[in-house]
Amino acid sequence: MSTTTAIDIIPSGAALGAEVRGVDLAHLTDDEFAAISQAWAKHLVLLFRDQKISDDEHVAFSRRFGQLDQAAPNQLGRPFIADQPHMSVISNLIEDGTPLGQLGNAEAIWHTDMSYTEVPPMAAILRALEIPEDGGGDTWFANMYLAWDRMPADLKSRIQGLTVLHDASRDSAGDQRMGQPVVTDPRKAPGARHPIARVHPVTGRTALFLGRRRNAYLVGLAFAESEELLDRLWQHAGQKKFAWVHKWRVDDVIMWDNRCVIHRRDGFDAAQRRLMHRTQIRG
Ligand code: OGA
Ligand code: MN
Repeated sequence: MSTTTAIDIIPSGAALGAEVRGVDLAHLTDDEFAAISQAWAKHLVLLFRDQKISDDEHVAFSRRFGQLDQAAPNQLGRPFIADQPHMSVISNLIEDGTPLGQLGNAEAIWHTDMSYTEVPPMAAILRALEIPEDGGGDTWFANMYLAWDRMPADLKSRIQGLTVLHDASRDSAGDQRMGQPVVTDPRKAPGARHPIARVHPVTGRTALFLGRRRNAYLVGLAFAESEELLDRLWQHAGQKKFAWVHKWRVDDVIMWDNRCVIHRRDGFDAAQRRLMHRTQIRG
């Protein structure tokens, strides 16, 4: 009897990201799960291709990493998929006047998922069901350990020890969230405060922790100084040298560590169909 697996980890060659080959996420052995966990801590974002899995299998795989967050609600305050309370839908599709998912077709700016909550999810697992045939909608990921380690010394000394107020009022596509006030002064935005750098509980490494540029505020600073520093921080964090971009195929599954990775999505043609299902693992 052998317990070896045929699992292959192929680094993207960029600052983060690796493809995992030789696994079926619907039938994972404990050894494979251990190898995936290890690769994830090292590469921060993992890609699995050709995963023809169901929503239930997607949920079951996600549960191996911890408890799941409830899905983001639709416009009626209910889960997008009635019998899948943990499955969010990211899509531009509209049926009978009702959006099937969130984020539309516009660019989604660099962000950390739900950083405006007290305990943001530690990870997300996103699966492609339909992808624009004409391209667009690529997803970018950036390594916030590196952004911290390589931050210019003068910038680092000015932000060291600060706390960021993460605005809850708008999503990464710029849309107003239901039930949130319109923010005119970011210093008074609804949301959560988090230290600007955090130690990752698994790797022990320090990562820069940013949410979204829009309506962010460095607590305690004069507004103009906060704006100047946030502009510099975001310019630094979103550099190509810290990033990896993924061009989706149907049946791709990507998981990212939401504690040390920011992500953004290119816009795409509104006439094209894009449909993704996503779980989030509780922080
Ligand atoms: C998300 C997200 C980007 C994409 O699911 O949190 O930002 O490519 N998705 O759909
Ligand atoms: Mn996101």
